[in-house]
Amino acid sequence: MLKTVPEKGLSIDEVSAQLDKIASRDMPDDSGKLFSYVYMSGRKDLRKIMDFYNAFVNKNALDFTVFPSSMAIENDLVALTASLLHGNSSTVGTFTSGGAESILLSIKTGRDYFLEKRKDFTGKPEIIIPRTAHPAFVKGAQYFGLELKIAPVNSETFKVEPEEVNKLITDNTAIIVGSSPSYPVGVMDPIEELGKLAQDNDIWLHVDACLGGFILPFFERLGQKVEKYDFSVPGVHSISIDFHKYGYTPKGASVLLYRNKELRRHQIFTNASWPGYPMVNTTMQSTKSIGPMVGAWATINYLGMDSYLDLAGKVISAKQKLLTGIKNLGFKTLGFPDSSIVTFRHDDLNIFALAELLKKDGWFLQVQPGSVELGLPASLHMTLTATHDDKIPLFLESLEKNVKNLMKDKKTEPPETLDLFREDVSAEERKNYIDLISKALTGKGTAESGTYTINKLVRSLPHDVIEKLYAEIVNEIFKPTDA
Ligand SMILES: Cc1ncc(COP(=O)(O)O)c(C=O)c1O
Repeated sequence: MLKTVPEKGLSIDEVSAQLDKIASRDMPDDSGKLFSYVYMSGRKDLRKIMDFYNAFVNKNALDFTVFPSSMAIENDLVALTASLLHGNSSTVGTFTSGGAESILLSIKTGRDYFLEKRKDFTGKPEIIIPRTAHPAFVKGAQYFGLELKIAPVNSETFKVEPEEVNKLITDNTAIIVGSSPSYPVGVMDPIEELGKLAQDNDIWLHVDACLGGFILPFFERLGQKVEKYDFSVPGVHSISIDFHKYGYTPKGASVLLYRNKELRRHQIFTNASWPGYPMVNTTMQSTKSIGPMVGAWATINYLGMDSYLDLAGKVISAKQKLLTGIKNLGFKTLGFPDSSIVTFRHDDLNIFALAELLKKDGWFLQVQPGSVELGLPASLHMTLTATHDDKIPLFLESLEKNVKNLMKDKKTEPPETLDLFREDVSAEERKNYIDLISKALTGKGTAESGTYTINKLVRSLPHDVIEKLYAEIVNEIFKPTDA
């Protein structure tokens, strides 16, 4: 029997107790020991912002005539982001729910711009992305029917090679993409060179600055060398920037900027063929809360440039301490960390086992299993935020202790050697793996059947097998609660 609506409502205390229980396995988001998924400033005073967020949460940005505040706030947010990224009075933009939505919209808009220019085109428009680009681009290609082409990145620098992108350009190419920086390695692609390719071939260039757009301008002001990646580069058509990353705003806040409104026109959906009111949507969502916009507006105006410079300075300080510490322990970074992400590997250590040990000490690093099939190294990823600055010395102590333990136990089996799952595996064996991984993902497995095994599997299997397997697992484990 399924769990149902309680006959009589719970008291507020009961609701609170039940939520505490439901959330008991969540990682704390404000401990400073989590190095992905959350972007924490360490500023407790920012909690006040939630009052403004809550005051607007039920107002609906679907209709800016009923709620004109939504338009005023969105226009402010677009202006202040465009001003950071060398926009001008022609720059326009749209507030969205997050990086993925900004990216999806840029693909839909870029595709429709291409189709408008090429009225006689009958083929499939193509998009070229670097191997390190965010999966939202793969999703966008799937959702909007574009042919996906993946350009390799340099094996030392992890930057996309413009010559390789050039080789993939055809008459059907609608969009090319560069990241500033990419998520898996934190390296900036050569946007100036991509901009030249975009101009020479009259192709849309989207820059994914979801991570960098709200921190690189502050790094630059603090004297760090930052390559050009924004509207100062000719050929850049659109840029995605997330407020809910280094803007330190409540989640659900990103912006997609365009060089001009001729480009954005193709993003806007309108419909006047139903019996209801004429529908105008700038984004994927129709009804959308004004809360996240207000959360972003209030945070940014409250913090101001002086606080953002201070917070960016803490990230630089955390990065410098971390880079020195990991180098002393024999780790090597993947490429040169241009921004606020540090990703590293070790020639003689099983980093999957290391991540498990660090987790026992409360540190959550993201394991990037890489892929034997695609020649991608296994690595550990740390997204650094301001709150990590004073935690890095403690983290390095834990890292050193666990590295020593691992070396002592000779648990240095390189993950590459494992091939637990072949394509000829039987349906029953596959089910066993699905059970094993499902248990691990829902916290019911043992340590050894946990993420360690999953990472080994992911590393050793072809990516299309993993993709199918994960779809099956998620389809299995998301199911209605029993009474
Ligand atoms: C470079 C980059 N682009 C896009 C995204 C997607 O953003 P979101 O998770 O807000 O949808 C991320 C998220 O980490 C990212 O790092």
